Amino acid sequence: MEKIFGKTEGLKKSELKRLSNLYRRRIPKERVLTPELAQVLAGLSQEVGRPISLLLDREGRVVRVGVGDAKDLPIPEGARGEWRLSGFRLLHTHLAKGGLSRPDLSVLFLNRLDSLAALEVEDGRPTTLHLAFLSPPKALEEDWRLLPPKPYFQYLEFDHRAEVEALEEELARQARVRELVDGSGERAILVGVDRGEGPEAEAYLAELAELTRTAGGVPVKKVLVFRPHLDPRYLVGLGKLEELKSLAYHENASTLIFGLELTPTQAREIEKATGLKVLDRTQLILDIFALHAKTPEAQTQVELAQLRYLLPRLVGKGKELSRLGGGIGTRGPGETKLEVDRRRLQERIAHLSHKLREFTRRREEARRQRKRRGVPLIAVVGYTNAGKTTLLQALARGGEPGEDKFFATLRPLTRRGFLPGVGEVLFTDTVGFIRQMPKELLTAFRATLEEVREADLLVHVLDASEEGAMGRYRVVEELLAELGVEAPRVLALSKVDRAAPYDLFYLREKLGGVPVSALKGTGVSELREALAEALLKVGVRPQPWAQAPQYT
Ligand code: GTP
Repeated sequence: MEKIFGKTEGLKKSELKRLSNLYRRRIPKERVLTPELAQVLAGLSQEVGRPISLLLDREGRVVRVGVGDAKDLPIPEGARGEWRLSGFRLLHTHLAKGGLSRPDLSVLFLNRLDSLAALEVEDGRPTTLHLAFLSPPKALEEDWRLLPPKPYFQYLEFDHRAEVEALEEELARQARVRELVDGSGERAILVGVDRGEGPEAEAYLAELAELTRTAGGVPVKKVLVFRPHLDPRYLVGLGKLEELKSLAYHENASTLIFGLELTPTQAREIEKATGLKVLDRTQLILDIFALHAKTPEAQTQVELAQLRYLLPRLVGKGKELSRLGGGIGTRGPGETKLEVDRRRLQERIAHLSHKLREFTRRREEARRQRKRRGVPLIAVVGYTNAGKTTLLQALARGGEPGEDKFFATLRPLTRRGFLPGVGEVLFTDTVGFIRQMPKELLTAFRATLEEVREADLLVHVLDASEEGAMGRYRVVEELLAELGVEAPRVLALSKVDRAAPYDLFYLREKLGGVPVSALKGTGVSELREALAEALLKVGVRPQPWAQAPQYT
């Protein structure tokens, strides 16, 4: 006997047998139902005193039989193309009068069913048929389209197949339009959680949008959810997830990006509940790092960080990796190598760690040589996108300008420069800092950040034109303290050409610092002088040719 789903307790064996016989039924593939099936369903429902649900495939075959309402029938995963329908339709009986309920329609929507039909039963006979299809995702419209309820026999000739085909065509057309508009950008809904932080939560969400753009995504909607307590399973609760799914549908988005770190369980459950690709902030940042890692060392660091992040999220043999299905969150040096099982991942982690130790050893060697030559090292640090690379280039003269995206620098670039009264120095660029830097990244980048610890002097670059400058300043200083960096610093207030005068005044009052615009070249020589002074103060000896006015 085939499996009967749902509320089967208390049913007689003979009833179960007759329910099981429904699996042998078949209707023409272009029809919603046949008169025979309508009669049989109505009779059986009356007899067992419960609604009966059937799931049919595109060929008109019954693939699941359930007792109870539409929501009681578990729907298997259909042909989950990005915008196609599942290929299943659900037909169920209603023992009382009344159309399709909200839970019924949620089943239609959440499972992308081809259609959902309810057949009313009165005295064991079929009466009115209610029929609903999804509506194509246009913003502000309802998620579904209800056809007028009619006596069921008036729907016997209804061309179900044509309706589904038209809908799928429209879905495909909208997907093509979307692609034209966005290029290959992946459309994402961003979800921030406010646990009582207020305006900070909003700033955080704005930053998430910036990160999404840097990763090549298109943030189509930002949703801030107020939740003092998080749901251990669904983070923001199942009801909210349904809303997000609906929003994603209307906005043609296929991805949800959460502004905080999801536990492996949450990521899985949210993905299951919404059918959308789910990413968290850490994955997004890892992805950006992967895009920007140019040197073999940076690539090794990123791959290691990605694998460390993925390992606890793997269930079984690497199948979770394929769930991401390409795009943001799957890129990186390790991309093609990710299709391996846990044990091989561990081996790869060991191999990469070994490689990194080798890089570190070589770095130390270079450091020793530098020390022998007595060239002071100045590390440029700061929040991501603060203007570090651009400033370094202005200080050292030459090279290409920075890129207006987060984390454009992942290669610890070192350049030679000259400071008046000191002589030759080396400037080294560092990876941009960010608040709540994912720990996988901090571990992986520790070696790069060693450079910072070894530096004789730091230039802390703070974007003075950025609204949250004070907060960013603190983030960077806290991270430096965490890394045990004690070197003296000179603060450079960057991008002053576009900073509001009052903001600049306020920052200078609070923090001091040298105002610069690397783009316009203003303040750069003052900064050089401040750096020279600071170096001399920590006991760096001027080189004999130090007075040569090389860059003025
Ligand atoms: P990451 O490597 O991502 O951490 O960035 P970064 O701190 O190295 O910043 P980068 O130098 O790449 O500059 C980021 C953006 O700010 C680029 O678009 C620059 O053109 C712009 N920028 C840098 N300096 C200035 C400046 O003085 N004025 C203005 N208006 N823009 C600047």
